[in-house]
Amino acid sequence: SVLEMEVEQINKGKYMHYMQKEIHEQPESLTTTMRLIRGGACKSKTVLLRGLKDHLKTIRRSRRIVFVGCGTSYNAALASRPIVEELSGVPVTMEVASDLVDRQGPIYREDTAVFVSQSGETADTLQALDYALENGALCVGITNTVGSALARKTHCGVHIKAGCEIGVASTKASNWHFAYTSQIVVMAMLALAVGGDMISNETRREAIIDGLLDLPSKVKAVLKLDEEMKDLAELLISEQSLLVFGRGYNYATALEGALKVKEVALMHSEGILAGEMKHGPQPSNCFSCLSYLFHKHLFCCSKQQSVIQQLQARKGRLIVMCTKGDSASVSVGGSCRVIEVPHVEDCLQPVLNVIPLQLLAYHLTVLRGHNVAQTRNLAKSVTTQ
Ligand code: AGP
Repeated sequence: SVLEMEVEQINKGKYMHYMQKEIHEQPESLTTTMRLIRGGACKSKTVLLRGLKDHLKTIRRSRRIVFVGCGTSYNAALASRPIVEELSGVPVTMEVASDLVDRQGPIYREDTAVFVSQSGETADTLQALDYALENGALCVGITNTVGSALARKTHCGVHIKAGCEIGVASTKASNWHFAYTSQIVVMAMLALAVGGDMISNETRREAIIDGLLDLPSKVKAVLKLDEEMKDLAELLISEQSLLVFGRGYNYATALEGALKVKEVALMHSEGILAGEMKHGPQPSNCFSCLSYLFHKHLFCCSKQQSVIQQLQARKGRLIVMCTKGDSASVSVGGSCRVIEVPHVEDCLQPVLNVIPLQLLAYHLTVLRGHNVAQTRNLAKSVTTQ
């Protein structure tokens, strides 16, 4: 009705679509997420997640931490795996929920199983939760939906609570799948809480907390790439496929960026572990390749440089995303588009690096004439198996 259209326009404000609005509201949703958690004790440079405090000792003594999720939530957990391992000292294994149940993978009483789910109602994830509960593991829930089945059935957990949302493809925390950035923040906080008893990583923890508090303003800076990503979408509109190469913290970013392009712009895209490029994917000139090059001090950066040169040699149309100010270190011959993103603590870089891909997916969708509001086939919470 006309009234509904008027209400919708008011809700969308200056934006054309809810998805665009929700991508651009991530600074606020991250602030909300951290305010709810920061209220615990970010100021005192330690982190208190009230929903976990009675279980921290058990988690620290776990034989391993098993991250379980689907889609974007799995990718957010993958992005958080290195920092959880680093600060907790506990090995972290990754499980796609449906596969864990299909193969009846081993889950032990000494394990902590962390279930990540926006909606808290995803059937695959809930089935995996039942399986882990039967096997006696400590089950932790990370969800954005208070009162969801996941929140009710886990032993403990954290609510993301990043506000209400109407879009479907996940770019920020909220009822729908706009959680990726807030999920990473919450799992970084989980790593800080679990590792909060060790003096050895105190400096690192303080740097991460400072990085978290600085994140909303850095996200605002990345959102200024909107026009640049719209131009890039115009370049890529008729491409057959977009291959996204990442490693280290940016492997998850490559998976999530590719998922956004696939599920929203309905264009084939694949996230690839950069080191695997020489074992198969042969980008030709009909592919576009986006490669991450971050944290030049990291050992993997020089290896990433060679991946970029190999991509260039294979005539893949190359886009390189790098830390702001490092474009000179993107030493590839010929034409290659460089996107610079502000630097932040490495474990939080995936929060910033995914945003240009969210913007690219949104603009590709609009330019390809798809309905952004009702993304085809993308269900609400996937409550079927
Ligand atoms: C939809 O935009 C998401 N990309 C989708 O993969 C989602 O993350 C997945 O279905 C899991 O949903 P959940 O986080 O609610 O469990």
